Amino acid sequence: MQNFYNQKLKKLINNKIPNPELDLRLIIKRSQKINKDYMENKNEIENINIKKFNNFFKRRINGEPISKIFKNREFWSLDFFINNNVLDPRPETEFILEGIIKHLPKQNKKYTICDLGTGSGCIIISFLKEYKNSIGIGVDISKNAIKVANKNSLKHNTQKRLELKTTNWKNMNQYFDIIVSNPPYIKNTEYKKLQKEVKNYDPKISLLGGETGLKKISELTDIAYRCMKKNSIFLMEIGHKQKCQVEKMFLKNNLYLIDTLKDLQGIDRVLIFKKN
Ligand SMILES: C[S@@+](CC[C@H](N)C(=O)[O-])C[C@H]1O[C@@H](n2cnc3c(N)ncnc32)[C@H](O)[C@@H]1O
Repeated sequence: MQNFYNQKLKKLINNKIPNPELDLRLIIKRSQKINKDYMENKNEIENINIKKFNNFFKRRINGEPISKIFKNREFWSLDFFINNNVLDPRPETEFILEGIIKHLPKQNKKYTICDLGTGSGCIIISFLKEYKNSIGIGVDISKNAIKVANKNSLKHNTQKRLELKTTNWKNMNQYFDIIVSNPPYIKNTEYKKLQKEVKNYDPKISLLGGETGLKKISELTDIAYRCMKKNSIFLMEIGHKQKCQVEKMFLKNNLYLIDTLKDLQGIDRVLIFKKN
């Protein structure tokens, strides 16, 4: 059995799978005949359903991320359902929530929030779990993404405070206290170089930001200005080295950068704007 474990681990390493040991343990755990919360030792291999194991293992070797195989991903310590119609929630996106809490620390106040390009709904649902008196709207151009967000809203019991709509964000014309967005911001030329975990399993529409990477962000400048109440804030995730250009684009629309949050790699990741 130890031999089986080492053989499989070697195969993952040879196929350059990141975090091979963790992934192997997760695959073994999910292939157990009896469902257990944790794996006591490597001998748990004796309890696996080999057919299930082989299916999961083959998919991982082919580059499918663990989250897409098991259809779930943790974000802000909550478990989200995901599938191939939505972007895998990323840890760096949690800085949007850090930013909201930093600037609006009174969590029992009632705010209205809008999430432009909600995907799995991870940002707005996590927000509503923190701000129990607030209400919000999440929009996405993808009907299938909205189905996923609805499932997550039900799962986390936010459906009474969250409206989810399939629409182009250009159609938004209400006012909000908080607007958030994690728009697609990858340059078309960078797309080809992405890891297969991302390129083959996250929807293209959730990644591509046109030739400069800034096409979708530029659409958001008008919408943010139009939909922001006085004293409201707009928080947006950006890509590596996009801060300067994005700040200039927003300034042209009278939106002032008031804060920048760096991710764990020290990259400027979340920009926070106010309206003049
Ligand atoms: C980078 S993903 C973010 C998903 C989710 N908010 C997250 O942070 O994990 C961007 C999302 O924007 C959506 N989107 C792209 N263009 C859009 C548009 N014009 N109107 C509405 N949604 C759009 C995509 O379908 C995708 O779900």
